[in-house]
Amino acid sequence: MPSITFIQASGESRKVDAPLGQNLMQVATELGLQGIVGECGGAAMCATCHVYVDEAWIDKVPPPNSNELSMLDFTASDRQSNSRLSCQIRVTQALDGLLVNLPNAQ
Ligand code: FES
Repeated sequence: MPSITFIQASGESRKVDAPLGQNLMQVATELGLQGIVGECGGAAMCATCHVYVDEAWIDKVPPPNSNELSMLDFTASDRQSNSRLSCQIRVTQALDGLLVNLPNAQ
């Protein structure tokens, strides 16, 4: 299973083995990780699964579609160039080692 590291706004990090096919929001919420809510269940309609993908990984993650780009206007924390909705990023072997930073509010 690919290894994904979630880094809290506090700096605390958690490295997990993520099941292939799940999205990052599912991985985080099933672990009970603080910092990702996932209110809409992964439908790209709430922006409470906002994350910042580590800059070194941004080109390795499949790009956002137009719906995700629109929803990123509604994040509680500042939108940045590496902002993504974690429910829209599916775990693949290519993402082994991915670093994801969590915002300080959702
Ligand atoms: S869980 Fe709602 S947008 Fe991702």
